[in-house]
Amino acid sequence: MKLNQSNIKKAKKYLDKNYCIGIPTETVYGLAANAYSNYAVKKIFKLKKRPKSNPLIVHYSNIDDLGKDCLINNNFLKLYKKFSPGPITYILNLNKNSKISKIVTNKENNLAVRFPKHKILRELLNKLSYPIAAPSANISTKLSPVQASDVKEDFGNKIKYILDGGKCNIGLESTIIDLRNKPKVLRLGGLEVSRIEKVLGKKIKNNTNPKKKNAPGQSRLHYSPGIPLRMNVVKPKKNEAYILLKKKKNSSSNYFYLSKKNNLKEAAKNLYSFLRKIKNKGYKSIAVEKIRNIGIGQSINDRLKRASKF
Ligand code: TXA
Ligand code: MG
Repeated sequence: MKLNQSNIKKAKKYLDKNYCIGIPTETVYGLAANAYSNYAVKKIFKLKKRPKSNPLIVHYSNIDDLGKDCLINNNFLKLYKKFSPGPITYILNLNKNSKISKIVTNKENNLAVRFPKHKILRELLNKLSYPIAAPSANISTKLSPVQASDVKEDFGNKIKYILDGGKCNIGLESTIIDLRNKPKVLRLGGLEVSRIEKVLGKKIKNNTNPKKKNAPGQSRLHYSPGIPLRMNVVKPKKNEAYILLKKKKNSSSNYFYLSKKNNLKEAAKNLYSFLRKIKNKGYKSIAVEKIRNIGIGQSINDRLKRASKF
């Protein structure tokens, strides 16, 4: 999608006035507001019906801006150099001069930060004098949006503006890693954990278990398409939508192929839009064939597992 300066100007105008707007990122669309303003970020929680106890990710343009709010450490520097901007979120300690709204962090002393790669969003961030807090732009527990029209579906004219950046390239939320002490993965996502481990030179503890409370968004009911979903299905029921990774010989109108070439990245990119489409077509349940649990396939399976708790 092409850069349109007048749209970016419009987005800046609304953010400067402390409104919430929809923004594109390479992972999923966000519901954004000035992270330094209590007044602005309060609106995010209200619009999303999000519990106050669930903190927000703050999006920065670069490491210099981050340095004003957070304490930077060595593991962070290594990963930042290699993967940012990109689909990885870091948990860091706040510094004592931080201007981040206490509402963003639920008064905790740490912050989830991310450097998004989406070109249009980067252009916007460069023009702002503050970072932006942005959770995924969906009502809590529902499917995350991967194009502007998905955001519209959830919020309609309750938000002032959606900055259209086309379809998200990655299609799954960022991978979250806690770097305050020994690195821990809090959420699987758009960046494979094996690549992070390679850069840090060691195995990283996986803390993505939904029973643990470290990442509040790791609750069981999450990423739900709103209808029942079953995993590892060999034979779907008669009226069920069936999601597959690659084309089968004996296809049928209720079969949906996540990838043309049996490619997991392409499958990740299509997952949320397929779930949304299937729901909107009126299907009452979804069956998914077994997805290879390697690389980004692990993130796909994580989301499917949570969606299946409906
Ligand atoms: O790709 C993404 O990360 C997208 C785009 C818009 O950037 N954002 C996103 O935000 O997925 P959200 O709010 O839907 O998910 C953020 C997750 C939540 O599960 C939240 O509990 C967790 O991050 N989180 C936020 N701040 C945290 C913190 N300080 N410590 C631990 N977990 C945190
Ligand atoms: Mg979310």
